[in-house]
Amino acid sequence: MDFTPSTLLPLLLFSASLLLTTAAAGASVGINYGQIANNLPHPETVVPLVKSIGATRVKLYDADPRVLKAFANTGVEFIVCIPNELLAKIRDPKQALAWVKTNVQSFLPATKITCIAVGNEILTLNDTVLSSSLLPAMESVHTALVSLNLDKQVMVTTPHNLGILDVSYPPSAGSFRRDLTTRLSSILDFHNKVGSPFLVNSYPYFAYRANPKQVPLDYVLFESGSGMMDTGSGLHYDNMFYAQIDAAHSAVEKLGYKNVCLQIAETGWPSKGDDDEAGATPENARKYNSNLLKLIAQKKGTPMRPNLDVNIYLFALFNENQKPGPTSERNFGLFNPDGTPVYSLGFNTTGLVSTNTTGSIGGSGSTKAPGSSPVGTGASSDGYLSISDDAERVGFAGALSFSCLLVSITLVALQL
Ligand SMILES: *[C@@H]1O[C@H](CO)[C@@H](O)[C@H](O)[C@H]1NC(C)=O
Ligand SMILES: *[C@@H]1O[C@H](CO)[C@@H](O)[C@H](O)[C@H]1NC(C)=O
Ligand SMILES: *[C@@H]1O[C@H](CO)[C@@H](O)[C@H](O)[C@H]1NC(C)=O
Repeated sequence: MDFTPSTLLPLLLFSASLLLTTAAAGASVGINYGQIANNLPHPETVVPLVKSIGATRVKLYDADPRVLKAFANTGVEFIVCIPNELLAKIRDPKQALAWVKTNVQSFLPATKITCIAVGNEILTLNDTVLSSSLLPAMESVHTALVSLNLDKQVMVTTPHNLGILDVSYPPSAGSFRRDLTTRLSSILDFHNKVGSPFLVNSYPYFAYRANPKQVPLDYVLFESGSGMMDTGSGLHYDNMFYAQIDAAHSAVEKLGYKNVCLQIAETGWPSKGDDDEAGATPENARKYNSNLLKLIAQKKGTPMRPNLDVNIYLFALFNENQKPGPTSERNFGLFNPDGTPVYSLGFNTTGLVSTNTTGSIGGSGSTKAPGSSPVGTGASSDGYLSISDDAERVGFAGALSFSCLLVSITLVALQL
């Protein structure tokens, strides 16, 4: 855990002691660095920006060599991504080995690449060719890492849209879409075997946008007074983020993979949206992200997994002006392309980034489909308020995920 005193200086909102406690205890925040834009600053100037918000982990949507070079010897940990369009190719073990050598091995150990995400939100694209390539591609990449003796330091996983859930409310009734359970079982089996985390993208914002009249804004912004009770488990939820995560925990557990560790590959709130995109304001985005960061720093875990070290990657570092879809899609960033904060999160970033733009050399970025709404649109079983009387009753005793903790501890040890 690299946490030098200088990274603490610019922080205004959080007390230094809170952050020191967080750092000492191993909690850290990650951020998604998407680049679907033609006006982003040079990656070298992004290093101090990432440090200024106390992020120690960065997730890319590709393996942009400019970024990986710029972050050499910074101690920042990376998830690199194999773009969806490469999956069919990467399932070939030879291609996987070549990809890993070029995009991962050549940057180690100076750049701490600790994870490879194979594709992004593949299963909810409903593309059977892509979906059928996913696990074989993950296996080929893992095999490549084994042959390079890198499998103990680099994990293999894939982030899922929460639309893989058929039922998400109440959390204890969470279950996967029936048409995806076979694939998800095999993927969970892979995670269980190699010890890598199951990644989901969680956006309470989309649930709110789909149903602003019924979903209480304070509940999605972590400012709830009363919260709600999961009638299946008797557990109390005071924010939707935890409810979404525990719905995914329930779904994973129902397939028999209680010990697989779940992490949040994306979560965030847009600061701007179209007229029909309720709640997309700088003030709500500030509340969502700052309340979330405070919650993560407390390391309390979710109601169902109180001992879980909730591991998140905020979405996203920058507003991305070339993302398709509704206005909100281009306005999830904490920062404008010139490095100025979109809204105040309380970090002092004055003078950290020059207005030196380089165009979209990296090209690819987040491959999140426009308007992809993890939870809340369409199906009645999706929404936060869709409490069905016949919801499956499943009792959970707030069981701990020991192997999840063990995996984290092992990873920390390996990185020392
Ligand atoms: C994929 O299929 C599911 C279930 O049939 C459906 O609810 C969803 O809207 C589809 N998604 C896309 C992107 O077509
Ligand atoms: C923010 O940082 C800049 C540059 O390091 C410094 O000059 C300025 O005084 C700081 N502002 C505050 C409010 O601490
Ligand atoms: C601006 O970007 C170029 C690369 O395109 C780099 O060589 C140069 O050092 C940068 N200048 C500043 C002031 O960051």
